[in-house]
Amino acid sequence: MGTRSRPLEIVDRTPAIGSEIRTDLETLLSGREAETIRATLERRGVVFFRGLDISDEQQVAIANTLGSIVQNEGEGGIYKISLDTTVNQRAEYLKGSMFWHFDGSLQPYPNLATLLRAMKLSDSGGQTEFCNTYAAYEDLPDADKEAIAELRVVHSAERSQYYVRPEMSYDEITFWQKSPTKSCPMVWTHQSGRKSLLLGATADYVIGLPVEESRALLARLRDWATQPHYVYRHEWQPGDLLIWDNTGTMHRALPYAADSGRLMHRTVLAGEEPLN
Ligand code: OGA
Ligand code: MN
Repeated sequence: MGTRSRPLEIVDRTPAIGSEIRTDLETLLSGREAETIRATLERRGVVFFRGLDISDEQQVAIANTLGSIVQNEGEGGIYKISLDTTVNQRAEYLKGSMFWHFDGSLQPYPNLATLLRAMKLSDSGGQTEFCNTYAAYEDLPDADKEAIAELRVVHSAERSQYYVRPEMSYDEITFWQKSPTKSCPMVWTHQSGRKSLLLGATADYVIGLPVEESRALLARLRDWATQPHYVYRHEWQPGDLLIWDNTGTMHRALPYAADSGRLMHRTVLAGEEPLN
């Protein structure tokens, strides 16, 4: 160890989002390049490492060089993402991940970043798509920027469930309504000064707008932010370790079968910026 480490080689996959970082495991574990990796993550939205034989413990160790891990999900910092209820009891809820979202929209501090490692892939589907919500905001026409500058959006767990179960029963609706809702700005002004669009499957309605206008605006902005030139689609290979900046992107899994065996090991980095 220690003799063959090399600097990072960063290979952009699309102009606006997504880079492969080529390096070796020893460099990643040492934390020597952690600052560069974090800066690359913020600049590129998504980074991934391919061809490294990474264990669960090493995934957690790498995460620890980048931030502080959210410990309350999974065992030992690893949470299993699977649609198979024998692997993950919340599999039904995870179906919501097939629609554009960011993680932790209902939390005071949305997650900083998520690490996902491909343990087993689906024979078909199961790619993950990401869009750059910084770039999408920056490119908006000035009239739109002005119109949405002060808008606030109510996010709810209930709203995101309609994507998965369009005809929920009264009991189901009242169950989801027990989760508190959260009002978020439509434009997130980060501590860095950069701004990003804040949308996603939990976005229920815009405060103060008629319902039709509110729904139309949320859909129009999602269409805008998910145009092909803001999107990177990750075609997984076994063992890939991918990290997304959860504060400047949205993501979704492309459909795959619940019995496909697809399994991802996830580690989450705690948010460092409040979203008020
Ligand atoms: C997640 C998520 C997408 C995927 O883990 O938060 O949305 O492709 N995963 O599994
Ligand atoms: Mn997610």
